[in-house]
Amino acid sequence: EWPVAGETSVDVRTSVTSVLFDRIGLLYTGDPVREEMTDAAVVVEGGHVAWVGESAGAPAADERVDVGGGCVLPGFVDSHAHLVFAGERSAEFAARMSGRPYTAGGIQSTVAATRAAGDEVLAARTAALVGEMLAQGTTTVEIKSGYGLTVEDERRSLEIASRFTGETTFLGAHVVPRGMAADDYVGLVTGPMLSACAPHARWVDVFCERGAFDGEQAREILTAGVKAGLAPRVHANQLGHGPGVRIACEVGAASADHCTHLTDDDVEALAMSETVATLLPGAEFSTRSPYPEARRLLDAGATVAIATDCNPGSSYTSSMPFCIALAVREMRMTPLEAVRAATRGGARALRRTDVGALTPGSRADLVVLDAPSYVHIAYRPGVPLVRQVWRSGARVA
Ligand code: NIG
Ligand code: FE
Repeated sequence: EWPVAGETSVDVRTSVTSVLFDRIGLLYTGDPVREEMTDAAVVVEGGHVAWVGESAGAPAADERVDVGGGCVLPGFVDSHAHLVFAGERSAEFAARMSGRPYTAGGIQSTVAATRAAGDEVLAARTAALVGEMLAQGTTTVEIKSGYGLTVEDERRSLEIASRFTGETTFLGAHVVPRGMAADDYVGLVTGPMLSACAPHARWVDVFCERGAFDGEQAREILTAGVKAGLAPRVHANQLGHGPGVRIACEVGAASADHCTHLTDDDVEALAMSETVATLLPGAEFSTRSPYPEARRLLDAGATVAIATDCNPGSSYTSSMPFCIALAVREMRMTPLEAVRAATRGGARALRRTDVGALTPGSRADLVVLDAPSYVHIAYRPGVPLVRQVWRSGARVA
């Protein structure tokens, strides 16, 4: 039983009229039965997809959008983002680019800035990032807490996140805050902090890593979250080998995220489970680290998602197109695999069936590209190819 995501409250106007998207040169449907179609059309009604088929046989609708031979795909599903924070860490990035390694320690400086910021500042900054995402084709986003690390700062981070998405994740277990003993903090996270945060969250997450939380602590935190009605997901195997991926699979987590350092057993566990391997190539780009081995996961039969990990420390990009380009160039995914991972894969990582595809009944989240094919997302990296974005049948960008 998975908790149901709440409806998001921002910028969603459900259209009452029907819209025909006509003359689609290439449609990526995300439907395994017929994943791609040429010369296609889509009819949207009441915020949902009503019809998908050949342009020639399209039914009439109240409005018509002439796609002019361009490519249409489902809105991207960014299943991993940390958007509620203040401050920035460009100095830390610059130091890394001159040779310093990334560590989890930098999180503390964002925690200090976030604690010092008022609610409305945090909300405005989150809105700006969500706006960047929408403009680049992301129509579903998961947002984590994790830069508050006190009961009240975690609670308000999630309350702010829930103004933008139903996919809210309690990440009190991001790091142990400065000045606190690890055991005391785990007690706080699994006790009063969880009680204050659970009403505002759908998911519970833990950064299972050297320098953050070990396997035993991660298990305890996830188990407590599940008891409080949250569904688990895990930051796993980002900076080194460790138990994160195996714990994610054991507890039935929807997703194990990062997956940068994997043993054969980890790959096997992911392939045999419903746990999605969510790859975050923006983090390897920005920390100048080796990329996850997407081919190994795909060839073993694991479900792969791509997400931005948008955060001020390890991956300050809000761009799913950029991450798709990285996945293709640096992780040897085909353009089709990368687009699939950014739509259907992200939906699987959030256990959602209403987004990430364009089939009758899907939420009408569409991206119209200024290009004849989704291949151009990787082929023309850095070029703003997203021409239109529709969410629940309403134009949002
Ligand atoms: O997913 N790995 C843990 N958390 C973030 C980074 C957070 C930060 O450096 O501020 C991540 O990469
Ligand atoms: Fe993350």
